[in-house]
Amino acid sequence: MSSPHELLRIEGVRKAFPGVVALDEVGFDLRRGEVHALLGENGAGKSTLIKVLSGAHRPDRGRVLVDGEEVVIRDAQDAARLGIATIYQEFNLVPDVTVAENIFLGRQPRRFGLIDHRRMENDAALLLDRVGVNVSPAPRCAAWASPSSRWWRSPRR
Ligand SMILES: Nc1ncnc2c1ncn2[C@@H]1O[C@H](COP(=O)(O)OP(=O)(O)O)[C@@H](O)[C@H]1O
Ligand SMILES: [Mg+2]
Repeated sequence: MSSPHELLRIEGVRKAFPGVVALDEVGFDLRRGEVHALLGENGAGKSTLIKVLSGAHRPDRGRVLVDGEEVVIRDAQDAARLGIATIYQEFNLVPDVTVAENIFLGRQPRRFGLIDHRRMENDAALLLDRVGVNVSPAPRCAAWASPSSRWWRSPRR
């Protein structure tokens, strides 16, 4: 049996903000199939570590390796290219674009350089169906949002 493949490795990562060292000599590794929970009191540095991995912060020192190769994660696009996705506890929907565009925000499928709306809506419909959400991907998101009802129930007239 081959040894489990090391997907992600962090070595000696440090990140300081004025007056506080958020991360000091942080190391971590992650193999295929593993699930880890990052626990710590408020201010322990959890968010800072995730922000380093998602490209929101650059570490002051230390290394990040993906698939054994050292990488520099400058922004969210770099992170996405490396297969690092961040799911935020609080997320915002953009009310003035469609449900499908909200799902594919920042990674809309393209065709001849333009957003492929048909494919985006088809793919969104498949994803919504997969999680059992009865929402049409084509209307603007705001059409579904209503403070008094659960937002996925029915479109606002
Ligand atoms: N952008 C920032 N500027 C200054 N200090 C920050 C910033 N982000 C986080 N910190 C500080 O870094 C430390 C770690 O914060 P954080 O990573 O948010 O912790 P956690 O998510 O574990 O609660 C805290 O002392 C926090 O105040
Ligand atoms: Mg946090």
